[in-house]
Amino acid sequence: MHDMASVAMDYDGIVRVSDIQPPVSDTSEFIRAVVDGLSQPKRAIPCRFLYDAAGSAIFDRICELPEYYPTRTERWILETHATAIAKAISGEVRFIELGAGSGGKAEILLDAIEQVRAYVCIDISPVPLASAAASVRARYPDITVDAVCGNYLGKLDLPPRRGLRDICFFPGSTIGNFDRDDAQAFLREWSRRLGQDGMMLIGVDLKKDAGLLEDAYDDAQGVTAQFSLNLLHRANHELGADFDTSAFVHRARYVSEPGHVEISLVSLREQIVTVAGRRFGFEQGAAIHVENSHKYAIDEFTLLASKAGFDSVDVWTDQDALFSVHLLRVAR
Ligand code: TRP
Repeated sequence: MHDMASVAMDYDGIVRVSDIQPPVSDTSEFIRAVVDGLSQPKRAIPCRFLYDAAGSAIFDRICELPEYYPTRTERWILETHATAIAKAISGEVRFIELGAGSGGKAEILLDAIEQVRAYVCIDISPVPLASAAASVRARYPDITVDAVCGNYLGKLDLPPRRGLRDICFFPGSTIGNFDRDDAQAFLREWSRRLGQDGMMLIGVDLKKDAGLLEDAYDDAQGVTAQFSLNLLHRANHELGADFDTSAFVHRARYVSEPGHVEISLVSLREQIVTVAGRRFGFEQGAAIHVENSHKYAIDEFTLLASKAGFDSVDVWTDQDALFSVHLLRVAR
């Protein structure tokens, strides 16, 4: 996990992008990550580098794909159960959203949970962060809005809670992009940070048929392939690397134990790639690991959360049991 400087700000007016400082040294961090990642026996580039401006735009298209059920299913669950979710939360609330750009999912809840007094959005990218904060501010003039530009995996300075109950919203099954130990450590850290009475509302993708999962991460139109290949394009643009992006293909496969979709870029031929003056040889079939997307059974996730210091308050799902939304509460 990374520590990164974060900047918290209060806004009385419109949020401007120029007001928000991105975390320092993006490029040197990216170079280090790529060079280190390609130097290991199991090659990998950390998935947070997928989300530059181009990657974020492609990701928005993934969310609309017929094969990619998580986004619309989570939205359906939130819309259908918003009143029940609101009922399960008492007292005046500060709503903390991890990651901007949940595509209106936060608004579903902000409409339903009348006790929200403050909203904090945390994101590593300043542009989506500013627009999320601005749209909440415009739509809910009575809610205090803060934007925190930083990595919610690392050290963060949150604005003071002022007696409100913190409820942290972590949608999109982003928790699935941690391996299981890191997911537990992440929840443990947030249970500490949220403190007594703190709650967490978290979207968790469920285990299901391998074919459905593999299609969701390798769609017919090739949008997901474009998303992971964008990492190589980004390395070429930003680092002057010379990846031949037509000589790598996207691969998604489901590994049933413990249960994750493994996403990688596979070299189509023997080749040599240069990054920052370093040469990396690839055999045909050699893989660069991009991301895992872990899938849980409902009880399995509840157990993981309990090991991290959370009690389960309630869980909602869809009729086909594709996706789940868990409401957790910091254990006393
Ligand atoms: N959080 C998303 C998920 O695991 C991220 C994601 C969707 C993703 N499709 C992807 C990451 C393809 C890499 C490649 O569902």
